Amino acid sequence: MNPTMKKLMMSAILLSLPILGNAQDKTADDYVEYRQGVFNAIGWHFKKMGPMIQGRIPYDAVEFKRHAEAVAVLSHMPAEGFVKEAKDSTLPTRVKPDVWFQTERFNTYMDDMIKAAAELAEQAGVEDKDELRPAYGNVAKQCKACHDRYRERG
Ligand code: HEC
Repeated sequence: MNPTMKKLMMSAILLSLPILGNAQDKTADDYVEYRQGVFNAIGWHFKKMGPMIQGRIPYDAVEFKRHAEAVAVLSHMPAEGFVKEAKDSTLPTRVKPDVWFQTERFNTYMDDMIKAAAELAEQAGVEDKDELRPAYGNVAKQCKACHDRYRERG
């Protein structure tokens, strides 16, 4: 590595240090932004699969699997944005207050999504998209179930 590269590397490392703080540095707003960001990413990938299942765009097994795997990985992540500290945020949010009183019940909805998303990712890759319809439908059902119960109408 030449000296200029080395200097650049060092300053990049130093610049990144402040953002490597621990969880205690997180504010209520950070949690809200985090969970909304994760949900938006889940929605991003989820919405790419529906049109393939419905035949509105050509089915591509590799692309479908990529999106299914993204949803499966991301499905583990929103829970981290529903900690009690997040309650004090004044940012706009669609979380219903029930979430904070029914933690156990809310978590079962989260687990159901995680399970359904893992099954879809597992099955994805097949040649016939119709085989994926039930698993895809089951994920959609879990999204809707939680939204109906714990998300304010937008
Ligand atoms: C355990 C409950 C739960 C599950 C399961 C769930 N969501 Fe959500 N989702 C929420 C809540 C609550 C919000 C509102 C978050 C906020 O505003 O802070 C939300 C927000 C979103 C948003 C952000 C935009 C908006 O409408 O507020 C998208 C997109 C989204 N969810 C998609 C999905 C998809 C797709 C799935 C299924 C793969 C899913 N969600 C599963 C509870 C859930």
